[in-house]
Amino acid sequence: MSGGHQALVRMESVLEDRERYGVPDAILLEDYQNEAVFIDNLKKRYHENVIYTYIGQVLVSVNPYKDLGLYTDALLEKYRNVNFYEVPPHVFAITENAYRTMTSEVTDHCILISGESGAGKTEASKQVLRFLAATSLHRREIDRVRDRLLQSNPLLEAFGNAKTNRNDNSSRFGKYMDIEFNFKGDPVGGHILNYLLEKSRVVHQEHGERNFHVFYQLLAGAPDDLLAKLNLVRDPSNYFYLKQGDSSHVGGINDRGCFEAVDYALDILNFSTEEQEAIWGVIAAILHLGNVTFTEDDNRNAKVVDDQPVKECSKLIGCEPAQLLKALTHRTIEARGDVVTSPLNPDQAGYARDALAKSVYERIFNWLVGRLNLSLTSNEIGRKTLLGILDIYGFEIFDRNGFEQFCINYCNEKLQQVFIELTLKSEQEEYKREGIEWEPVKFFDNKIICDLVEEKHKGIISLLDEECLRPGDANDLTFLSKMDSHLSNHDHYFSYETAKNNKVKKTINKDEFRLRHYAGEVAYRVQGFLDKNNDLLFRDLKHTMSQASNIIAKSVFPREELQNKKRPETAATQFKQSLGNLMEILMIKEPSYIRCIKPNDEKRSCNFNFERVSHQVKYLGLIENLRVRRAGFAYRRLYEIFLARYKSLCPATWPKYPGPAKDGVKAIVDHLGYHPEDYRMGETKLFIRLPKTLFFTEDRFQMRKAELATMIQAKWKAFMYQRRYQKMRDSVTRIAKHWRRIKAQRLLARRKWAVGIVRAFIKGFITRNEPVNPINERFQQLVKCEFLLRLSKSLPSNLLDTKWPPSPAPCNEASNILHGMYRTYMARRYVKALTPEKRSMFEEKVLAEQLFKGQKTSYMDSLPHWFMTSRLTPEDESLRKTAFEDIIKTPGEKTKYCIPCTKYDRHGYKPRDRLLILTSGALYLLEAKENKLKQKHRFSLKEVQGLHVSPNTDNLLLVQIPVENAKRDKGDLILNVPNVIEAVTKMISISDNSEVLKIAETETIGHTMKNGKQGTILLGTGSSITTIDKNKEGKLAVIAGH
Ligand SMILES: Nc1ncnc2c1ncn2[C@@H]1O[C@H](COP(=O)(O)OP(=O)(O)OP(=O)(O)O)[C@@H](O)[C@H]1O
Ligand SMILES: [Mg+2]
Repeated sequence: MSGGHQALVRMESVLEDRERYGVPDAILLEDYQNEAVFIDNLKKRYHENVIYTYIGQVLVSVNPYKDLGLYTDALLEKYRNVNFYEVPPHVFAITENAYRTMTSEVTDHCILISGESGAGKTEASKQVLRFLAATSLHRREIDRVRDRLLQSNPLLEAFGNAKTNRNDNSSRFGKYMDIEFNFKGDPVGGHILNYLLEKSRVVHQEHGERNFHVFYQLLAGAPDDLLAKLNLVRDPSNYFYLKQGDSSHVGGINDRGCFEAVDYALDILNFSTEEQEAIWGVIAAILHLGNVTFTEDDNRNAKVVDDQPVKECSKLIGCEPAQLLKALTHRTIEARGDVVTSPLNPDQAGYARDALAKSVYERIFNWLVGRLNLSLTSNEIGRKTLLGILDIYGFEIFDRNGFEQFCINYCNEKLQQVFIELTLKSEQEEYKREGIEWEPVKFFDNKIICDLVEEKHKGIISLLDEECLRPGDANDLTFLSKMDSHLSNHDHYFSYETAKNNKVKKTINKDEFRLRHYAGEVAYRVQGFLDKNNDLLFRDLKHTMSQASNIIAKSVFPREELQNKKRPETAATQFKQSLGNLMEILMIKEPSYIRCIKPNDEKRSCNFNFERVSHQVKYLGLIENLRVRRAGFAYRRLYEIFLARYKSLCPATWPKYPGPAKDGVKAIVDHLGYHPEDYRMGETKLFIRLPKTLFFTEDRFQMRKAELATMIQAKWKAFMYQRRYQKMRDSVTRIAKHWRRIKAQRLLARRKWAVGIVRAFIKGFITRNEPVNPINERFQQLVKCEFLLRLSKSLPSNLLDTKWPPSPAPCNEASNILHGMYRTYMARRYVKALTPEKRSMFEEKVLAEQLFKGQKTSYMDSLPHWFMTSRLTPEDESLRKTAFEDIIKTPGEKTKYCIPCTKYDRHGYKPRDRLLILTSGALYLLEAKENKLKQKHRFSLKEVQGLHVSPNTDNLLLVQIPVENAKRDKGDLILNVPNVIEAVTKMISISDNSEVLKIAETETIGHTMKNGKQGTILLGTGSSITTIDKNKEGKLAVIAGH
């Protein structure tokens, strides 16, 4: 897990992988007293690129020496407004916590960053500042302040940082920066305090080290005209103060770019052109000053080898070269009103030169800080809260430790004291707030060491000051023996002289004294203590400077200083005082701590040197921190947070606890069976004494999580399916609803349509008999249609069927036409299907109709019967075939019709049975007797003049022959032919002469007899059967039956 990725995982959730990542808070370490366990935890995390670990609210940071992407804007945003314990340890979390408490509780805060050189203090402080600057809203005034706050960094780093063997960008001063916030939480100003600038670096650097960055930046980055004005060349090796370390160029440091950054910062911070020129003038003057070398004159006094650098220097400072030269080589002492000037030897002159350079640099640095503060002064009125950032050197311990280390370690001792006091105080306050009984904590109170150093009249600083002021031959060794005599009984002080134990004695040099600090034992060599404490700058030089025209030089060496006869405070006392001030500042603030650790001395990433870390853990007092923090309870958490995470472990609190969080937590604790001694219930927090109790809880939670995951999965699936089902059901309902609507709409439309149709139908019906108009048109069409349909289904199937469906009024005409057409069609069809015989039979029937219909009563009786060609008995028929066909018939004729009939004598009307045969040419009347046929009459059909019949049902037929033939044929033939209509029709059909038919219109028919006489036949009706008899008058009376 990279730092970036893990950033927003809840702190407790990291516990599940604690074997790999270690614990995020060292108070969770079971064996918290064990330094190795603590370091091992740091190591585990470090190798997983997790560089931050807490000890309670103290952040321990191990320098990764590589970019882990931990400070992106996105991450910065994610740490904003979140609870300290909700996120993994991070410098942003510490800052957010301090900032939030500051704004919400309106209290002042400070973040104390300490650690060895190169451990990452300055980097951390920059991130703190960045986070705070980014909290502001973007308003013009706020942006201006924010830019100035941020720009103060490159400026102070240029003047106060240098490359050392331990850190390429080592801060060579301590810095405390207060940021002021208005009531809205916007940064509105700032104030910087600086401590103990390592000014010796201006004149001397160890091998591999450099002077302060600003010198190199000026040479590399200044434009040519500026360099020419300062009379400088770009190569640093031309300057004694820059070349001693033999390391002017450092890979990874871009001096040129940094110069531009400084230039930019000066502009942003509102430095005037004059001020900027003065700054560069002083810096260049120091470089020239460094090149001033002395040699002996004849009187063994100092004289400059080359006065050119002195000239350059004085030109830039704005003083007379001669005055400067004199001041460098002479010393004026005022004693009891006498002023004595004495020359210096070359060594003394060199000392004076270096003292001047150091002093000038220190003062310009202080001036710069003062000037910065002016720029950062807030214009806002009203209540402001402060958040301070302290970036100060941590405990230092080298092979040779001098005055500086003494001061630094004293400073750390003081800070530790603040830490202990404030931590215990805040612990105690928390217990009180939470209503938990305070359990006294044993801790190492380092007040005793602080007193050893700073106590008035008795402390080391007082002794040192005394020795500095003492007239006579005071030196570093006399200072040591003074300490020996005053401090021999102190538990934390010992030296060669005071060591009680010979074995120890052997390890101590004679010029050393040792202090037993809270963080361990440190040996200090006394060489240079007096000198550095005196921090002497000869009056002559101060005087020269105070008369300079360079505005900065002039202002940092005020004339009043010269007039003040009081001896200036010694360096140690000044430091003590400024530390005292700092402590006062810190004590009234709520502190947060960042403890930086350097994992190795090679500035390498992924390299964790256990020993080196162990060393720092000791000097930073981290185990002591841990012990104090763990004295009571290892873990404390707000009830709400604890409940939210672990509620699944107890049935009463899962999935939701309805009551107060405290009761919920109590339920969990009881359910898990915590021992009463293992925890306490505070007002708002649960306190757990041992980490193992928390781990036990966390492990149970991990197990439970797996169960829950399955459960949630199942629930989720069920939920999903249910949702899908519901969706489907809704869809079905919706579709059905729509469908029903559509159906209803269609039905409605149909009904409307139907109503329209019915109404039109009714109207059509009502007006059906009117001529076609728009109202009844459709109805009539329908009626026609219906009629046609009905007709099509009930058409007569044969010609004889005369039924024809009745037609409605509008169809009458059509019906009639159709009827006729249909009948014609049927007839045609019938006719077409007829055989020739049948056809001729029909023709005869048609002919009979033409002849007799309505003329003769018996016609209707003849109608249903087909006409036949022969009505002879079988005997007569066979007789006809033999006798008639071959013998009687005139050759060439064809027999057409045969029928038996009765012939009445024209004389006496005696009936005689005869056979009537019609051939194609003649009518034969034959007598069948004794199986013979005898022709009685033969008339050519052409000679038949008339065929008389009565209009009644009788069968009388009178065949009229021409009068001239009457004699031969004995007059007209009077016949009773049973099928008279048939016989007559045949005869007319054969002769094709219908003229001959005569249907009697009177009740008599006359006939011609043999002798030409006229006979009369009477026609009558009324008998039941037809009778033909000779009546009394001798006439033939034909009375037709019904
Ligand atoms: N958090 C970090 N991430 C990446 N690199 C870092 C981090 N902290 C420090 N470094 C690296 O370590 C170097 C030294 O850090 P820094 O200058 O902050 O140390 P310091 O504690 O201020 O030392 P000094 O006391 O010498 O001023 C930085 O220049 C940078 O390269
Ligand atoms: Mg630093």
